[in-house]
Amino acid sequence: MDPTAPILLFDSGVGGLTVLGALRRVLPQAPVIYAADMAGLPYGDKSEAEVAARVAGLLGRMAERWHPRLICIACNTASTIALGMVRDVLETPIVGTVPAIKPAAERTRSGIIGLLGTEATMRQRYVDDLASRFAAGKRLLRHGANGLVPLAEARMRGEAITAEAVSREVAGLLSQEGAEAIDTVVLACTHFPLLADELAQALGPGVALIDGAEGIARRIAHLTHGQPFHRPSPDRAVTTGDLGEFRTLGEAFASYGITRLEKL
Ligand code: DGL
Repeated sequence: MDPTAPILLFDSGVGGLTVLGALRRVLPQAPVIYAADMAGLPYGDKSEAEVAARVAGLLGRMAERWHPRLICIACNTASTIALGMVRDVLETPIVGTVPAIKPAAERTRSGIIGLLGTEATMRQRYVDDLASRFAAGKRLLRHGANGLVPLAEARMRGEAITAEAVSREVAGLLSQEGAEAIDTVVLACTHFPLLADELAQALGPGVALIDGAEGIARRIAHLTHGQPFHRPSPDRAVTTGDLGEFRTLGEAFASYGITRLEKL
């Protein structure tokens, strides 16, 4: 194993930074390339075919270019739609990000769990399967909250966002029948933990927020256990979109140890 081979983290935008944060805690020495498909953001209102084509095409291109030791699809929408397909065509080990329904089902006392993700994620068979495998006997109230994605992106550009704007995006969850008994909410989009404080406030006291970042980081550490790591140059982030716009995220990336921003 080449010690400089990177771990490639992929998302439509900055959501994957929540996974990178957890990864840095368990594998601080691992060289990382963060890839954001900003030209395709947001995925949450795209069709399955469109998301699958983008994800498979981009990951194929990047795997060939950088020979990553592992790819993490740090995006629930991309993972629930395209994980199986990209695993079939790429030889690189791939870790996906799927809604943390299992830990939420283990934690809930009321048996009523909220599930917040993008609209595309909410309608996936993958989510139905997780619910029937791990949350049988519980009630899962789903809500597609696409509007949280631009709010999280804005926050990472240093823009002010209001608690009211976040509240509005979760109103459709809280108005569902039985929602007053929700005690656990799964943040099934990697962007959403970036708004954890506002979400906690909007959902009310006593509601636990669960996301998959720590579990994914542990899985990556397990799969790369024993491998040598060497970071020959600072980690970089690449975008499929406009580099000037991407640079407005410079401070956010720097706070996760990424100081080089480039165009893919
Ligand atoms: N971060 C992505 C996810 O985890 C979604 C953002 C988007 O809509 O592109 O689902």
